[in-house]
Amino acid sequence: MSTGEKARGPSAPGSWLYVYSDGGSRGNPGPAGIGGQAKDESGNLLLEVCEFLGEATSNVAEYHALIAVLEACRGLGYDRVRVRTDSKLLANQITGAYKVKSKALRPLHHRIKVLLNGFRAVEVEHVPREKNNSCDALANRAIDEGLSGLLKPVLQPGDEGLFPAPAAGDGAALSERMRRNEPVSSRTKMECCVIGTGYVGLVTGACIADLGHLVTCVDRDSEKIDALCRGEVPIFEAGLEAIVERQFASGNLRFISDMRGAIESSEFIFITVDTPPDSEGKADLTNVDSVAREIAATINGYKVIINKSTVPGGSTRRVERIIEEEMDEDCEFDVVSNPEFLREGTAVSDFQKPARIVIGSDSQKAIMRMIELYRGIDAPLLVTDPVSAEMIKYASNAFLATKVSYINAIANICEAVGADVREVSLGMGYDERIGFEFLKAGPGFGGSCFPKDCRALLAISGDSGYDFNLLEGVLEVNREQKERVVAKVERVLGGLDGKNVGVLGLAFKANTDDIRESPAINVTRRLLEKGAVVKAYDPQAMDNTREVLSGVEFTDDPYEAVRGADVMVLLTEWDEFKWLDYVRVGELMKSRSIVDARNCLDPVVLRKLGFAYEGIGR
Ligand SMILES: NC(=O)c1ccc[n+]([C@@H]2O[C@H](COP(=O)([O-])OP(=O)(O)OC[C@H]3O[C@@H](n4cnc5c(N)ncnc54)[C@H](O)[C@@H]3O)[C@@H](O)[C@H]2O)c1
Repeated sequence: MSTGEKARGPSAPGSWLYVYSDGGSRGNPGPAGIGGQAKDESGNLLLEVCEFLGEATSNVAEYHALIAVLEACRGLGYDRVRVRTDSKLLANQITGAYKVKSKALRPLHHRIKVLLNGFRAVEVEHVPREKNNSCDALANRAIDEGLSGLLKPVLQPGDEGLFPAPAAGDGAALSERMRRNEPVSSRTKMECCVIGTGYVGLVTGACIADLGHLVTCVDRDSEKIDALCRGEVPIFEAGLEAIVERQFASGNLRFISDMRGAIESSEFIFITVDTPPDSEGKADLTNVDSVAREIAATINGYKVIINKSTVPGGSTRRVERIIEEEMDEDCEFDVVSNPEFLREGTAVSDFQKPARIVIGSDSQKAIMRMIELYRGIDAPLLVTDPVSAEMIKYASNAFLATKVSYINAIANICEAVGADVREVSLGMGYDERIGFEFLKAGPGFGGSCFPKDCRALLAISGDSGYDFNLLEGVLEVNREQKERVVAKVERVLGGLDGKNVGVLGLAFKANTDDIRESPAINVTRRLLEKGAVVKAYDPQAMDNTREVLSGVEFTDDPYEAVRGADVMVLLTEWDEFKWLDYVRVGELMKSRSIVDARNCLDPVVLRKLGFAYEGIGR
């Protein structure tokens, strides 16, 4: 469909503005606007429209989103626009093929028309939902191209990224450099080594190299290092592979097993080893201690030793003591607590655009070196004492876990009184004091951090003589929540023995292959124990799951997972599950029944298709 091309001035090369509207915004809450942006090879600007709370709640939301995007793009020099939308109605109304009957939509439609009139050429394309993966492709592309720092949940004129910042300050300059994908500084490269090349270590190493520094990543797992040297990135994390590849090729990033060589050649030594729970739930510091000993045995000059592993208060001092007591040569060094707050799934952008950088140190010299190292990352900086820095990490994770358990508890009440927890979350989240984040009811929190860090904080508080009842409650709600999902499936099926269950999602959350303490694994295991026959699918986490879960039939296709199923159980909020062809799903299943433990599907649509739908708290 086209509304035609008007005779106007010549268009700039590569000046198409593509607007994709299919409702996916990866959960960024806020008013309508841009969910993702990227430029393609020809310089065309690709924008993803996002609606309220990451989902199209109505045509009104979709129209508002489109208006917000078009308004914001005026004056950017794009004179041709192509709107791709999964809404046939929207497409046909824009082109005038359908009349706009709704009173609510009429003024919005008029506004869209006026805005589109400002473009020399307008093309409108209706793309059926199952074929319209454009938004995800766009977002992934933006991330792959290293533009993740420019992804904006909400487009506001004057924002850095798409628009020049209002005043030319550091932020604007940084944004400009990031746009051109150049190192943020031409200053002398700093030499760093990262010990422990797991989720945190690899992201840290790659992103520090991307800042323009020289980074050597080390791990005791030589297979991991060999794989990285072959160009294989062992974890799935959006945008990471592209940065690793780029920086490895540029020589800024290397991977070796020789820890001593790496320590000797570096001024900055990051400790990013795992700190698993011991039998009492305390953080086991064996790995941190062993790295401290390696440093003591190797130190050959001034070093800033940066602890990014999550450790209890006092651990900075502990590392200092080990090095002081065991070092052969008398060298100057400082140990700094620099807790990491990245979230798996968005780890790269979290590292590049953190909410804050916390530096816990008593040494002015180390603080100044750290600030220099991180120059180019635009974030609030909090310099504090080491114990407070260590505490900030636990307090933050335990607080977020509390929010999750809180909304799950509210969801359970909602079910009893007939309220919809999604509406309740929305109503709460608009209050800035509360916010939308971590306010989604589901099967409970998991992953390698929240459960472990809550237990560690409980142990710390116990040791300090404080009875942290609140946090115990948080963990108890979390434990029960998974059981409630199992009970829901059992209730829906009238017993689990011999029943066919199609499980969608195994990772502990979307956009990661990590299954550590995954609620999905926990629920699946319980279903198996109760006699269910389980077929499962996850876009990224099946290899990891195979290692820990037997008795499941894994399929490479979500539709195969639900073929012949008595119930489909959605356990991880992957975007692709939202866009399945549910007509086909219904045809494949033995009986049309869905338990949506992430509340990511639309019950109204599904019920119209004949499904029995159960969410959480709705
Ligand atoms: N994963 C997250 O989302 C996240 C976020 C913030 C903080 N953290 C914290 O960061 C730390 C690391 O977490 P992770 O998820 O990256 O762990 P991980 O298990 O993915 O990686 C740890 C790596 O350290 C290596 N290692 C362990 N001991 C070593 C040693 N002595 N020498 C060399 N290598 C060694 C391991 O082989 C492994 O590759 C933990 O304390 C965690 O709590 C994790």
